[in-house]
Amino acid sequence: MTEVRVTVDGVNYADDVEPRMLLAQYLRETLGKTGTLIGCDTSNCGACTVHLNGQSVKSCSVLAVQADGSEVTTIEGLARDGNLHPVQEAFRECHGLQCGYCTPGMIMAAVDLLGDNPDPSEDEVREGIEGNLCRCTGYQNIVRAVQSAAQTMKPGAAQPAGQSAAPVAGGN
Ligand code: FES
Ligand code: FES
Repeated sequence: MTEVRVTVDGVNYADDVEPRMLLAQYLRETLGKTGTLIGCDTSNCGACTVHLNGQSVKSCSVLAVQADGSEVTTIEGLARDGNLHPVQEAFRECHGLQCGYCTPGMIMAAVDLLGDNPDPSEDEVREGIEGNLCRCTGYQNIVRAVQSAAQTMKPGAAQPAGQSAAPVAGGN
């Protein structure tokens, strides 16, 4: 067993883990963060996407011990004071999900994308989420949701109560 110390969604944890344990498993099985989903376990689908020190990563492709000393944000850490993150809100408003299995990873990828590119074109959104697969939506409403969130998050745009206009850098 190896000790891992990590901050997840703003809370510090220290746990002994098997060296082979994946970050996705650690989040779900040890911390109970079941909002992070596992679709393929082969780093193809993106359902397990979280932010590791502000960058989106597929948590099935990272060992828990590799996250030692890091800050992790999951879909469960995006909302603030009971208010959805603007990207979560936009997915709801634009019907960017059907079964919802891809949605947590898709939203984490989108938040990272908007942190890097606050006003992406449709092509840039599609490129930004290309590592995340959706079996249901045809992607059109997902792209609309990301572009809608970009407008909402622009400085000076009207915000839902309690939300900041600034992108959540790394979702911390
Ligand atoms: S479960 Fe990690 S990419 Fe599919
Ligand atoms: S909404 Fe079903 S996989 Fe994307």
